[in-house]
Amino acid sequence: MATIFEARDVYKHFGGIKAVDGFSMEVDEKQITGLIGPNGAGKTTFFNVAAGIYCPDRGEVSFKGERIGGLRPDQICQKGLTRTFQIARGLGQMTVWENVMLAPKHQTGESAFGAFLFGQVRRQEKEHWERAAALLGEMRLYEQRNEYARNLSAGERKMLEISRAIMTDPEILLLDEPTAGATVDETKKIMAEIERLRDERGLTFLVVEHKMEVIMNICNPIYVMHNGQNLAVGNPGEVQGNDQVREVYLGG
Ligand SMILES: Nc1ncnc2c1ncn2[C@@H]1O[C@H](COP(=O)(O)OP(=O)(O)O)[C@@H](O)[C@H]1O
Ligand SMILES: [Mg+2]
Repeated sequence: MATIFEARDVYKHFGGIKAVDGFSMEVDEKQITGLIGPNGAGKTTFFNVAAGIYCPDRGEVSFKGERIGGLRPDQICQKGLTRTFQIARGLGQMTVWENVMLAPKHQTGESAFGAFLFGQVRRQEKEHWERAAALLGEMRLYEQRNEYARNLSAGERKMLEISRAIMTDPEILLLDEPTAGATVDETKKIMAEIERLRDERGLTFLVVEHKMEVIMNICNPIYVMHNGQNLAVGNPGEVQGNDQVREVYLGG
């Protein structure tokens, strides 16, 4: 299995707070890798470093063998690494359809030169439109396409967040708590959807999640972070059986 994403000894401190403090990990392609740890462990900060929101203080982050640490989020997204964001308030006031249409990549129309290529722009718009419709169908959101995002259930909003990320045409998706707020049924659907996207689209996932049933059912391997550092890594059985992990995370 080929490694698609790698972090080596990454540090990100905020003043005296050692949010990420020498963390390393590898993600193999077409796998669903889990990242767990207690609140404040540094998981979200690490995601933000990986996606270019923060520049690492030290250490290397690479994607497909190329260093990406310190690049801008849009540059990293162009290369094929995308993280989901919660549907912010402004996006809640737009429809499902408008939300997925927001995230184009490689759009000719954005460059001055491209503005002359009207035919190509129209073709791209049509392609984008068709891709959005197909994706909403796949994610079972097509019926709700004219609904405001704020009116969706928590689980549907999570599916919309993932749909928006997929519109950027990623190879790896970083999901920060993809089932937060979802019901038991919705959680099962989201888990199945992530596995389907891996199997059918060949996508790679790195997933932060608090729900143990999600982590233990769909993620392998699982990295455990504590105080910004590596505590353990292994398959679900190994992580569950690790005494240190039980102590800091699973509550003994
Ligand atoms: N922008 C920031 N400025 C200062 N401290 C931060 C910032 N972001 C996160 N932290 C702190 O860094 C630590 C790790 O936070 P976070 O990455 O959100 O952890 P997790 O996602 O694992 O709960 C926490 O102590 C948090 O308060
Ligand atoms: Mg977090």
